[in-house]
Amino acid sequence: MSQVELLRALPKITRNIKQRAAVKDPNIVALARQYGEMYWDGPREYGYGGYHYDGRWRPVARDIIGHFRLQPGMRVLDVGCGKGFLVKDLMLECPGLEAFGLDISHYALIRCPREIVGRLHLGSADFLPFPDRSFDAVLSINTIHNLPRCDALKAMREIERVSGGRAFVQVDSYLSPAQKETFESWVLTAQFHDYPDGWLKLFTEAGYSGDYDWTIVA
Ligand SMILES: C[S@@+](CC[C@H](N)C(=O)[O-])C[C@H]1O[C@@H](n2cnc3c(N)ncnc32)[C@H](O)[C@@H]1O
Repeated sequence: MSQVELLRALPKITRNIKQRAAVKDPNIVALARQYGEMYWDGPREYGYGGYHYDGRWRPVARDIIGHFRLQPGMRVLDVGCGKGFLVKDLMLECPGLEAFGLDISHYALIRCPREIVGRLHLGSADFLPFPDRSFDAVLSINTIHNLPRCDALKAMREIERVSGGRAFVQVDSYLSPAQKETFESWVLTAQFHDYPDGWLKLFTEAGYSGDYDWTIVA
């Protein structure tokens, strides 16, 4: 397992933490956790605030392809693919690469780009409907923290099973009590989050041998 900054090319997001904290309530959290229209395309206090393809994942796709030495004909899976923008960009960056996605959000999947229709599966990260070692690389970006700890553990076992360890997982974390406080005032959907040590313990418990990085809300 190594920490690898595979999202370094992603443009930094501007977050109005104070505004989110001021309006956040249990109803907003419950709606966001449905991963429906409000989460993706409703007002910012419910989630993305409108998420449309803009090519932002293309340089990240390039870095992922380089890191895993992906070639045409190889198979890559994005667990928690949302609307499938990374799946599309992986295939644009490496024509002939067989990229697939899986997500729990029906709303997001039926809004995927036309080029990847048929490549996305509806399902949950803790129960992947694929054979052992069936992918050359498995990615999961900002998704596994959305499961409660026991299911996050299952999801990491599943990622290890279908990838054979050629995987990259990025999850929410924090490095100090101040960052934890900022994160807690921002977070809507995460059900399990921890300092890096807590995540590394979970990864080890799951037998995960792939790479990882942290999303730090600041
Ligand atoms: C912050 S979004 C990240 C989407 C995409 N990976 C990205 O980085 O833009 C979190 C994603 O996790 C998905 N999700 C939440 N719970 C899930 C589960 N149990 N299994 C699979 N996907 C899940 C949501 O639908 C959403 O697409």
